[in-house]
Amino acid sequence: MLEQIEFTTKSILAKSNNFKPEVGVILGTGLGGLVKEIKAHYVLPYTEIPGFAQSTVQGHSGQLILGELGGKNVMVMQGRFHFYEGYNMQQITFPVRVMKAMGVKTLCVSNASGGMNPAFKVGEIMIINDHINLFPTNPLIGKNINELGPRFPDMGEAYSKAYVSLAKQIAQEHNIGVSEGVYAGLTGPCFETPAEYRYLWRIGADAVGMSTVPEVIVARHSGINVFGISIVTDLGVEGHTQKVTHEEVQQVANEQEPKLTLIVKELIKRIQH
Ligand code: HPA
Repeated sequence: MLEQIEFTTKSILAKSNNFKPEVGVILGTGLGGLVKEIKAHYVLPYTEIPGFAQSTVQGHSGQLILGELGGKNVMVMQGRFHFYEGYNMQQITFPVRVMKAMGVKTLCVSNASGGMNPAFKVGEIMIINDHINLFPTNPLIGKNINELGPRFPDMGEAYSKAYVSLAKQIAQEHNIGVSEGVYAGLTGPCFETPAEYRYLWRIGADAVGMSTVPEVIVARHSGINVFGISIVTDLGVEGHTQKVTHEEVQQVANEQEPKLTLIVKELIKRIQH
């Protein structure tokens, strides 16, 4: 594992004239518009990065962008790997290990989710303040590699409180309505049954999706601070539940994209390491 991380990192450094990113970004469903804001210096398709898996879902392209956003050097994953695609936890989280090796100190993640909180509307922008891991496994299972992080990492502040406040402040300054909440991550690829949405709300989750949790666990294991933001693209609220399709999820995400882009870009600008 250590050798693979080193090999991939060296390969990216060689292809990018030793680019040193400070912030990592993982773009989720329909949120690719942030890409237009990046002053890209190097674009590497995953196919050209040794050790990276390839993404297979429509709407997720699959390339690494090294460039500037909000005045900082960023490493952006356009397209992520999902458990439901058949990848294992190591493949899904490997890019986060590489981000750490490249020098990344903050990871920004975005995703689309279904909302269980009855106060939410379709299109709600939810700043993630915590998560519940409902995947049947954990990316840290197996022999711990002490060089990468501790055996039993603390998860008391999986999502940096400072970034949650900062994002809320930025949203307020720009008149963007946001809420805060807990993201439950599970495998998919089915959307949830009404009973499952009910269960998720009862156990304390505000929104549910099929990503993010594995990457955040590995980021925290590596000592990377995390900012997470979600677009609630459909509702799993009793009485308001409608049929969900991937197309609808993408459409709502695309509509909300400019607001999310602004928040993430401004947050990156204001982060101090
Ligand atoms: N459930 C799970 N994942 C999702 C949903 C949902 O309702 N919406 C967007 N991603």
